[in-house]
Amino acid sequence: EPVLASSLGFCKTVPVLRGAPLHCCLPQPARKPIRFKYPTCESGGPPIIRERKPAHVVQNDPEYVRKYNLAYARMKALPDSDPRSFLNQWRVHCSFCNEAFKQREVPGPLGKATGVLLQVHYSWTFLPWHRMYLYYHERILADLIDDPTFALPFWNWDNQLDPIASMMPFMFLPNFPVNNSALLDANRNANHMPPKILYLGYNGRLEAEGKLNLTDEQIRYENLCVMYNQVATKISARSFLGGPYVAGTDNTAASVNVSAGETPGESGGMEIVHNVAHEWTGLINDPAHPDNEDMGNFIYAARDPIFYSHHSNVDRLWDVWKTIPDKVTIAGNRKRVDYTSSDFLDSEFTFFDENQDMVIVKIRDSLDNSKLGIKYTDVSEADNLWINYEP
Ligand code: C2O
Repeated sequence: EPVLASSLGFCKTVPVLRGAPLHCCLPQPARKPIRFKYPTCESGGPPIIRERKPAHVVQNDPEYVRKYNLAYARMKALPDSDPRSFLNQWRVHCSFCNEAFKQREVPGPLGKATGVLLQVHYSWTFLPWHRMYLYYHERILADLIDDPTFALPFWNWDNQLDPIASMMPFMFLPNFPVNNSALLDANRNANHMPPKILYLGYNGRLEAEGKLNLTDEQIRYENLCVMYNQVATKISARSFLGGPYVAGTDNTAASVNVSAGETPGESGGMEIVHNVAHEWTGLINDPAHPDNEDMGNFIYAARDPIFYSHHSNVDRLWDVWKTIPDKVTIAGNRKRVDYTSSDFLDSEFTFFDENQDMVIVKIRDSLDNSKLGIKYTDVSEADNLWINYEP
């Protein structure tokens, strides 16, 4: 049985390492939830296309940075009661990713999902849920600056062709020549600022022990290798997107022994790579920040505007994955395809849209970015470096 959108009637606080548990609960919708519809233009034709461009490119365009910053400044200025506010946008992630809600109970003989807390990581829900989260986040930003073509950038950290691409994008950092105050976040790792390039084999513990002393050249090769192993060679939906998540699946932290290093559920290769960029960006080994704020902990990650640009790249890589022919183990070309079972396609989630309506979205609605009016700038020259990499 697919997981259905929770009624949001129940919401619990989220424990943190230090201090009082956090409230990530969302405001109640003012109107009845509506069903998702694909976007169209005003005359009913195909939607306006929003092109998401690489962060290391758009940061050179002062007009883009001005709009991007303005959109976040306005989002941050909305009152707490407004579901579009930056605070509530953060709460969406915190609540769905840190088990504040329950799965809705499913009627019928098989569906006994009673009491299981909802967790959208560690399974096949990871990519679809985050795609639709970004979709609404971006529509809200665009609406706040009255620009229907506005699109999030993507932090192209897998790009080993241009050294700038995998650094923390400059437009998120202090002392940027254009006002970017709404894009800043103090809780980022000061040792990983440019010209440091993101290392996809990163491990905070090894770094603390002084065991990560790679040259940029070595990092670049290792990054290609990680992308090749975790993305290019993942042929099945299961290996790339992650394992099934159905009504009654318990992927909560409490379902495993976290202190023994166990992770719940079954993450796909894309989620595993994505975790590394989180850990690399947030504070780590900092006694004042035991929760690895912000990016290093799912509870706090979406408080950092860089989060949405990181996830834009993750979302792009899902599209890229579907274009990779199998050159590795199967003769001929076998395309990567998503799961086709109803348990996957009919899973439901809820988001607030730019009109403050609560929308019920199914995973099947999320599978084709072109129907959502989203496209990514082609960076296939860089993608091909890891797609064609042979260790
Ligand atoms: Cu919900 Cu990058 O995490």
